[in-house]
Amino acid sequence: MNVFLIGSGGREHALAWKIAQSPLLKTLFAATGNPGIKDHAEIVDVDINNHEAVIAFCKLQNIELVVVGPEQPLVDGITDPLEAAGIKVFGPSKAASQLEGSKGFTKDLCAKYSIPTGAYQRFDNADDAKAYTREQGAPIVIKADGLAAGKGVTVAMSLDEALAAIDDCFDGAFGAAGAEVVVEAYLDGEEASFFCLCDGKTALPMAAAQDHKRVGDGDTGPNTGGMGAYAPAPVMSDEMTARTMKEIVEPTLAGMAQDGHPFKGVLFVGLMITDKGPELIEYNVRFGDPECQLLMLRLKDDLLPLLLAAAEGSLDGHSMSWDDNVALTVVMAAEGYPASPLKGTEIKGVDQITDADTKIFHAGTVVKDGKLLANGGRVLNVTATGNDIIQARDKAYDAVKSIDWPQGFYRNDIGWRAIERVKN
Ligand code: AMP
Ligand code: GLY
Repeated sequence: MNVFLIGSGGREHALAWKIAQSPLLKTLFAATGNPGIKDHAEIVDVDINNHEAVIAFCKLQNIELVVVGPEQPLVDGITDPLEAAGIKVFGPSKAASQLEGSKGFTKDLCAKYSIPTGAYQRFDNADDAKAYTREQGAPIVIKADGLAAGKGVTVAMSLDEALAAIDDCFDGAFGAAGAEVVVEAYLDGEEASFFCLCDGKTALPMAAAQDHKRVGDGDTGPNTGGMGAYAPAPVMSDEMTARTMKEIVEPTLAGMAQDGHPFKGVLFVGLMITDKGPELIEYNVRFGDPECQLLMLRLKDDLLPLLLAAAEGSLDGHSMSWDDNVALTVVMAAEGYPASPLKGTEIKGVDQITDADTKIFHAGTVVKDGKLLANGGRVLNVTATGNDIIQARDKAYDAVKSIDWPQGFYRNDIGWRAIERVKN
């Protein structure tokens, strides 16, 4: 089977690596790709924003499945025209992608189908948003409604911070994404990223991971796309997983179908495990990055039939099995990330890492004149597996330290919550 993978990050490198292992695969194509993806796929020059061009390419190369990695093309509606042209797509329709594309849409769905989440109100002007926020008091959470590259959320510990965040949104700090604002109750607990494969009717639980969103050690500094993660997430016990499926995922899937936009693809359930149980923080309509890298390393089964079944609506009867090991990834980012990452600096030593349990996934890299250069904010995902969290962490950091990249940085404490659990 010929497959076309859309994306260029560490998540897509991990997907390419896993798809390439499938005996069902004939040729994997990718756009825009990166130097890591290039080891597993033919990189093609197709403008993924031009849906007609994507359709023409798929017909020319006899593509049987398109796998969409990032959220932007999904929210922009790439799936619908491809499907109308008879091409199967792993990823939700434009309407179903609102689960990530509009926080207000998701909150309204939660209210309609009694899905546990923080109490909220939606606003289209600053005055009303501020009045409600003053009434509720801090801590409180202010969210730009639309896609804002992970930057549109302010967890405000004081009223002043909350009011300033409301002004930021309506003053255009997040462009059109901030034209509407959700003000949401603060949820206290431990976060987990939980993933399910969905085909519109059936949801198959995958696994959970924990991400480190803040740029600095000790969870300090600005939010990022994720500075490192580990899986499994100890907080997601069998009981929490069962409750999440029953109380959150299943009503979401049924509600989306009932409302006329069934969800297929991967549902990324951002959870807060509070003392009441699992509550929804947000949905994403694609794999997490870097969480996907961990899932791909631990998944024992062939990924391709699962992606195909999700696209075709035939997931019922499928199952997944996972390695017993622990996987951990450390993101190496370019100096200046997240505000203004420095591009073009040289990275040495990546090819010298040969440990069988260690895998380097490329994100923002480029090869120029035979040299590997930084070409984005998050640049490498140094990933390792071990018998336990300590072993996985030690292997990952050994590899990180052997990479010679003076203008790169990383967090030193990836996995701290799980490690603290082991110690206690
Ligand atoms: P989001 O983009 O919705 O994932 O939000 C980014 C981060 O803000 C989350 O990963 C949480 O750490 C935090 N956050 C979002 N909503 C809430 C909430 N209601 N209560 C506490 N923290 C939240
Ligand atoms: N790592 C979090 C995300 O992919 O949104």
